[in-house]
Amino acid sequence: MDWNKEILENNFTGKFFGHKIHYYPETGSTNDDAFSLGITGAQEGTVVIADSQNKGKGRLQRSWHSPSGANIYTSVILRPQITTSESSRIPILAGVAVAEVLDKYSPGKIKVKWPNDVLLNSKKVCGILSQVKITPKGIDFLVLGIGINVNMAHNQFSEEIRDSATSLAIETGREISRLELIISLYENLEKWYKQLLQNEFGPVKEKWLELTPMIGRTVQVVYKDETISGTATGLDEDGSLILLTAGNKEIRVLAGDATIKR
Ligand code: BTN
Repeated sequence: MDWNKEILENNFTGKFFGHKIHYYPETGSTNDDAFSLGITGAQEGTVVIADSQNKGKGRLQRSWHSPSGANIYTSVILRPQITTSESSRIPILAGVAVAEVLDKYSPGKIKVKWPNDVLLNSKKVCGILSQVKITPKGIDFLVLGIGINVNMAHNQFSEEIRDSATSLAIETGREISRLELIISLYENLEKWYKQLLQNEFGPVKEKWLELTPMIGRTVQVVYKDETISGTATGLDEDGSLILLTAGNKEIRVLAGDATIKR
């Protein structure tokens, strides 16, 4: 056993994120757990970690395959004093924070893809799902969920995603300590989050642009039954992707699945 509640608690002691940890050997979804905790008033920085999930959730109502003993499935409660539209900066920030940490394991091979995938050798190694609880006064809290494929083997991925997803272990050829990784992850998240709270999206955006292969490329974004294509030119203040269409029209896309075409 590489981690359990006690080991995690000992390693998170005194930290900004994880001063309170809920650890489950198995759960439905750490995002659902964190959301319920948020509703009952759990403090900012409360972290949920699971060894496996049987209802792991992905973006756009997809599922997130979450076998035991291999990966990181974690969610944290945030209570930032920002506007609802600024809240979409948070998953972008998380992508940057994860990418910076993973780069230590695979230098130069980590990229970010809008909206918030982290890629390793062009394959998805991490997914991020944020959910917001809004009240008439603004944001009550936000749940930031992060799934990282750490030690998962090639044959553990479903056939459907086997060619487009990967794990750190597959790409580096060695087993990675989930404990070390999750500690570094939350430390780095704290660094970026505190910067954002000082109202500075600039550095996050700059780092994101540095890490993405999308700028200047033709990108197709599919959302529900709508498809938009254009040249990616930047990232807007609310985290939307800026595209220049064939008709030279600048548009901003807030949600969807992006594919780099050329
Ligand atoms: C995506 O579709 O790319 C987002 C995947 C997010 C998965 C993580 S795993 C921890 C947290 N709990 C969930 O149910 N989902 C997120």
